[in-house]
Amino acid sequence: MGGIKLRNLLGLPVNHRETQHLQKIRPAWEIEVEVLEAIKTRRSIRRFKKEPVAPDLIEKLLEAGRWAPSSANTQPWEFIVITDPEIKKRISRSFNFGPFLNEAPLAIAVVVDRFRTALPVQDGSLAAYAIWLAAHSLGLGACWINPNIPGGIKKILGIPLTKKLITILAIGYPAEAPLKTRRNLSDLVYFEKHGNKKGPITFKE
Ligand SMILES: Cc1cc2nc3c(=O)[nH]c(=O)nc-3n(C[C@H](O)[C@H](O)[C@H](O)COP(=O)(O)O)c2cc1C
Repeated sequence: MGGIKLRNLLGLPVNHRETQHLQKIRPAWEIEVEVLEAIKTRRSIRRFKKEPVAPDLIEKLLEAGRWAPSSANTQPWEFIVITDPEIKKRISRSFNFGPFLNEAPLAIAVVVDRFRTALPVQDGSLAAYAIWLAAHSLGLGACWINPNIPGGIKKILGIPLTKKLITILAIGYPAEAPLKTRRNLSDLVYFEKHGNKKGPITFKE
């Protein structure tokens, strides 16, 4: 098998342009704190300032989505960038749980091509989370909106039937700072077998 084909199968970079980003990677120890901090401090933001999101920031968000992991590196996602107030208004009216989309200066719809992957929800969700986290790291806020009536929204956005709408992320500069709690690790974690709480870590209750 030729070198490039094999590298494709393994999901490895095939040319210099693709390897450029690798040279910019910082050592893990240097970024660990920032990444963990970003994961812990990201919140769902549903109130936004009117300030628009600049195109270079939108591009960074899309880059984050593009570099999400996917099953067998299928990269089955497509992103629709939505800033048109009329389209946002029409979509937000179709949501039960996302009327605030109307107030967000930016929305990104995450769409997955069902012919490219057997795991559309998993692949699409990871791309959406990457965008969500990137938004937080850039000082933006975002919220996942579940397309509970996907038919109508897909029509508004012109999404073909063969593609699955995973979420629409409402994005903008935060106008709120909500707090959230999480269940304790002692409730969530077992060692070796489900139900066994005895292991090398003792979690705080
Ligand atoms: C799969 C999924 C669907 C969600 N759907 C909605 C939604 O339709 N509307 C909404 O306001 N928030 C939605 N959220 C946001 C959750 O309510 C939020 O993540 C959760 O309350 C935890 O808060 P946090 O994100 O601030 O940590 C969704 C989140 C996920 C992961």
